[in-house]
Amino acid sequence: MNVSDSERVATLLKSKGFEMTPRESSADVVLLNTCSVREKAEHKLYTRVGQIRKTERQNQVVGVLGCVAQLEGETLFKGDRGIDFVLGTQAVGRIDRAIEKVFAGEKNVLDLEGREFDYDWSTDATQRHSPYVAYVPIIEGCNKFCTYCIVPFSRGREKSLPASEIIGQVLELKRQGVKEIHLIGQNVNSYRPLNDSGLEQFKGATPFSRLLRAVAATGFERIKFTTSFPRDFHPDIIDAFEEFENLCNWVHLPVQSGSDRILKSMRRGHTIDNYKKRIDKIKNSSRNIALSTDMIVGFPGETDEDFRDTLKLAEYCQFDSAYMFKYSPRPGTPAFEMEDDVSEEEKKSRFIELEKVVKKSQKRAFENKIGTNLEVLTEKVSNRNKEHLNGHTTCHKVVNFKGDSKLLGKIVNIKITEVKTNTLYGQIL
Ligand code: 5AD
Ligand code: SF4
Repeated sequence: MNVSDSERVATLLKSKGFEMTPRESSADVVLLNTCSVREKAEHKLYTRVGQIRKTERQNQVVGVLGCVAQLEGETLFKGDRGIDFVLGTQAVGRIDRAIEKVFAGEKNVLDLEGREFDYDWSTDATQRHSPYVAYVPIIEGCNKFCTYCIVPFSRGREKSLPASEIIGQVLELKRQGVKEIHLIGQNVNSYRPLNDSGLEQFKGATPFSRLLRAVAATGFERIKFTTSFPRDFHPDIIDAFEEFENLCNWVHLPVQSGSDRILKSMRRGHTIDNYKKRIDKIKNSSRNIALSTDMIVGFPGETDEDFRDTLKLAEYCQFDSAYMFKYSPRPGTPAFEMEDDVSEEEKKSRFIELEKVVKKSQKRAFENKIGTNLEVLTEKVSNRNKEHLNGHTTCHKVVNFKGDSKLLGKIVNIKITEVKTNTLYGQIL
């Protein structure tokens, strides 16, 4: 979501005459888009501002965006760290005005207000992380209030974007030659627009699965979506995969813990049993769907037995990949009031143990691809070797192969020959 916001900010500023600089040192304005999901990200912000202000570039305007900006607001100006403006998560569309104010000499410019317009969709292909891949936000904010999570506070309440506008945006991206879209939101399964406009003729058990069918029916080359919330992940979504081949073979379904007791305390609203049922449906589908997840170790009260259950679950699910986190207490969340009773050392050793289990299933998932032919969207020239290209499969794995840069933006058939640290290697067929 932050990458998507940054792309929108870059697009807006480009339309106002700004230009992205190749190096930070030559910039007039430096923007720091922040995350507050874990504590470290906040520390990073202060370190980064410190680094900028230590240099000779005292005239640079420094602006802070994102979740830390929204949560900390005015306090970011305290201690004269050198931050010129702070823009909340829903104020990014007014960034040009904030910069103008700073240029005009105003100090401590703060905007934490809500959106003025429903949503500013536009992203310029040149300002996207890839000209061939685009993020399409479908829902913002979160109403789940998992007890450890700061997002409902930093991103506000859920707001679904109108389906007709989403479909219009998808068609525009298709016209621009974009090959892959990611429908994004903190919780895409909760998608619930105010009315049916644009979805009338599509079946589906939930508005999200109807939207998915509507987007797939545009004939867009590749469609991915993230993040899904287990409780709201209706099995009908998998039926949609069987109907539309352009829905890519990848589901990201964060489980967080393998212990029902901990899941309850996290207020996740799902049990291990019903999570497994969803996994079974995904794995039993005729499509070869890759599965990824998020997991937290060391949540307050997590015993060794609870943690063993997480290991067991990871064994059961055989994830293709997983983002793992050590629990980080976030002020203002309900879990912050619970005793953070798992020592840092213990969190670390649980993290390492879980990582081992995940690495094993990940290795297996990657090695299973050796000898197969996969369709890869060629996204860029490899950083390490200019004669190599890389891109993603529909199962969202990175593939590296030798090829001419003329293939950029094209979907090519690759025979997989080798696996090296989370990257597949192969040859063009
Ligand atoms: N501590 C550790 N990990 C967290 N996440 C969210 N909040 C916290 C926290 N306080 C993780 C969850 C979520 C992912 C985006 O970040 O696993 O799915
Ligand atoms: Fe946070 Fe839970 Fe919402 Fe995900 S669903 S953003 S973990 S509160």
